[in-house]
Amino acid sequence: MNNYSNIIFEIRDDYYFVKINRPKNLNALNQDTISELKQCFDFIKKNSKGFFGVILTGEGDKSFVAGADIKEFTGLDQKASIKFCMNGHGLFNNIETMPIPVIALVNGYALGGGCELALSCHFRFATKNAQFSQPEINLGIIPGYGGTQRLTQIIGKSKALEMMLTAQMINSDQAFQFGLVNKVVEDNKNGIYECEELIKTLKRKAPIAIKNIIKSVNNFYDINSDGFQEEINLFSECTSTSDFDEGVKAFIEKRCPDFKGE
Ligand code: CAA
Repeated sequence: MNNYSNIIFEIRDDYYFVKINRPKNLNALNQDTISELKQCFDFIKKNSKGFFGVILTGEGDKSFVAGADIKEFTGLDQKASIKFCMNGHGLFNNIETMPIPVIALVNGYALGGGCELALSCHFRFATKNAQFSQPEINLGIIPGYGGTQRLTQIIGKSKALEMMLTAQMINSDQAFQFGLVNKVVEDNKNGIYECEELIKTLKRKAPIAIKNIIKSVNNFYDINSDGFQEEINLFSECTSTSDFDEGVKAFIEKRCPDFKGE
């Protein structure tokens, strides 16, 4: 399981830690890294019980992920580019639909596919030196790992178009103003602390409700799903859990609930 060359994967007490580890290439996502991340997130999805979050970050203090690996673009033709995009889409969709929240700790450049990777996570914390951009237009392409969709969903059409059409780089304060990041943190160390604090908060919540909130919110963006109907289904699913009984009982008894994820 830990036979990775491009990422570091750690199972910590009650959360998973994933770090993209190609600092010489500013953690650019080559196809091997995408494969390793796929393997890792498949494992996390199957083994989420008893874990309350995932921290995803990049090695070093210069870059989260500087995009897809441009060195692999040479000779990329129309047919191969479809496979290229689908690989990224598969991974990013998997991250977006994880049953436990994934926090991107953006510690430096989040460019192109790096910004798109952060967008697929449920929370984004950015260090003061973080920089976000969708610079694909400078290479004569468009974002290919879901950026045209998720950036628009998250920051709205005007700002998303501005970022994608001009390739402008925005800093963490601007990203916070745009609603692109949840929180600005001082540096890597403080970022890990803040992520762990968030995980502590999530640990006190009902795991099945967390999973169903993620699912229900994702339904909003799925044109094939009736989000309101799905919400009813997911709500009623929660009422059949013992955590629901415990939550109500704890409220009445004026104590903190002790959720078991059952
Ligand atoms: N792919 C491959 N290698 C990359 C890379 C990338 N996206 N970004 C940086 N690197 C490599 C550089 O080639 C360099 O390696 P060498 O020393 O072997 O030449 C090393 O990382 C350090 O980079 P720089 O010397 O360029 O560092 P810098 O501080 O001068 O500049 C930077 C930093 C502004 C981030 C610059 O590296 C840069 O512009 N990178 C490309 C960013 C980009 O265009 N990303 C989008 C990719 S396309 C995409 O992601 C499509 C999609 O939607 C999936």
